[in-house]
Amino acid sequence: MTRRKLVAGNWKMHGTAADLDEVRAIAEAAQRMGGVIVALCVPATLIHRAAEAVPGFPIGAQDIHSAEKGAHTGDICAAMLHDAGASLTIVGHSERRDAHREDDASVRAKSEAALCSGLQVILCVGESDAERVSGKAVEIVSAQLDASLPHGAAADRGVPDRLAVAYEPIWAIGTGKVPSTQDIGEMHAALRSRLHAAYGSAGASVPILYGGSVKATNAAEIFAVADVDGALVGGASLKAADFLPIVEAAAAAA
Ligand code: PGA
Repeated sequence: MTRRKLVAGNWKMHGTAADLDEVRAIAEAAQRMGGVIVALCVPATLIHRAAEAVPGFPIGAQDIHSAEKGAHTGDICAAMLHDAGASLTIVGHSERRDAHREDDASVRAKSEAALCSGLQVILCVGESDAERVSGKAVEIVSAQLDASLPHGAAADRGVPDRLAVAYEPIWAIGTGKVPSTQDIGEMHAALRSRLHAAYGSAGASVPILYGGSVKATNAAEIFAVADVDGALVGGASLKAADFLPIVEAAAAAA
């Protein structure tokens, strides 16, 4: 079956109004390329200006609170993201799981809140270096996905069209290290089977992205792996000159 291909940039804590020209350059080039959906998940402070700068191009958040509103100092809910012009959000990035102690249950609640509100979701999972060395990475990440996936009404409404999963080995993020294509393929096949177990045939429609040190130089090789439906790109998404060749590689593989 043909799944949608998605290449999303994760700008993390980078980007101010001075970087809107990069957003424009990425959006303009991406909108001319067929076969792949491109999105940028920018800092919350930049969402509104980025969305206004590139109408119709998907601008996303990097996190969301699971509650509709309330006494949550510093947090941002789905209605606020919609109001700012976001159409998607990352949930469960390892940097948030680690630094903000987000567990699988809170990641699930965030993904459900986002999908219920109509946002698209990129749900991240991935193993640590020690977990990879232990030989149990597939088992551990599969269990993480099982416990983080949205259920109930959110899944009924959002899974086929608005959920994507990103496999991001923590040891590969920002390090220049990348798993072998064999290891990526093994993990993506395992995650695909967990999606089938959770959602039946709808699980076949959920794109599984790879993330962690994706660059122009390794993108084509990664996109050639079975069950890799795109990428979540950190450092190499900040500049159009670095990001667009990755998008082109995804378009060529689509
Ligand atoms: P990186 O980050 O591409 O800089 O390794 C990926 C991510 O954390 O999403």
